[in-house]
Amino acid sequence: MEAIQSEALQPRTVRTSILDHIGETPLVWLDRLFPQPHVEVLAKVESFNPSGSIKDRIVRYIIEEAERSGQLRPGGVIVENTSGNTGAAIAMIAAIKGYRAILTMPDKVSAEKQDALRAFGAEVVVCPTAAAPGSPEHYVQRARAIAASLPGSFMINQYDNPKNAEAHYRTTAREIWHQTGKRVDYFVASGSTGGTVSGVGRYLKEMNPNVQVVMPDPKGSIYHSWFNRGQVDHSEIGTYQVEGVGEDHLAECMDFGVVDETLQFSDVDAFGMSRRLARTEGILAGGSAGANLWGCQQIVERLTRPAVIVTVLPDSGLKYLSKCFSDRWMAEQGHAI
Ligand SMILES: Cc1ncc(COP(=O)(O)O)c(C=O)c1O
Repeated sequence: MEAIQSEALQPRTVRTSILDHIGETPLVWLDRLFPQPHVEVLAKVESFNPSGSIKDRIVRYIIEEAERSGQLRPGGVIVENTSGNTGAAIAMIAAIKGYRAILTMPDKVSAEKQDALRAFGAEVVVCPTAAAPGSPEHYVQRARAIAASLPGSFMINQYDNPKNAEAHYRTTAREIWHQTGKRVDYFVASGSTGGTVSGVGRYLKEMNPNVQVVMPDPKGSIYHSWFNRGQVDHSEIGTYQVEGVGEDHLAECMDFGVVDETLQFSDVDAFGMSRRLARTEGILAGGSAGANLWGCQQIVERLTRPAVIVTVLPDSGLKYLSKCFSDRWMAEQGHAI
């Protein structure tokens, strides 16, 4: 014990910043949630990233590529429309690298989430939620206008930037391949920009064409109907409560060429799994993690042979304590617990 302690107290010769600790997240075996002897369900716990989500990976990658290509210069400005995890990643990385960050968001975003970005020194531009898409007051248009008015500014453009999926191809996917000892039968990830499922899916299929890529999609999102019928069914677009996944438009990053199957889930399917994850595995993760685990469960239930199923838990459940982890909130929404 003494030897271990004195070793840990040795001065570090390698100097690192928090940026060096993005990625290389733990891959955890969820054998309490999935005790079936013939399956191994393994999950990347992405809340271990410094700003708390999987988005640190893509933001660092896109910023560093822009630095290399000269699109982003020292002291430059990063602009993005984002209300969530991507904003936190931009704010954190801009703070370390000395960039000005301007983030636009709709006013429905909670004060805590806005303040989390301001805490890193980012400027937050709050826009009316009711603004029509395409109108100058809408938060997406506002970000574009700000970027256009500031020479030398740079937009991450996470929905349509191919570097988003490339970041997952180069980091998340390689880690999974290495951490599983090259044993992957299924990869399960719901999508918003599609960066995760497209980048990881492409890499794993290149390594082993038999890998099956499964994408859970919330009821109300367009992806399920697009994938299965090749068209957007506008009557299916609706609201849902799980944050960060599903879309009402097609993101350019989304590569359906690597997806084998989509599975439609409801809010209660996803929230129920997030709650079970916390109580059985001691991991607090958000609703999109629950959606991914619900997808894993569907596969486990139909499997007749041994298999390794890998998924991602994109962010921490701490952000959702007043939502899916609150019994009162679940009851108010009519979700059975
Ligand atoms: C909590 C959460 N889960 C999942 C995703 C989906 O990841 P991707 O954009 O790579 O499809 C996001 C993206 O916004 C997210 O914020």
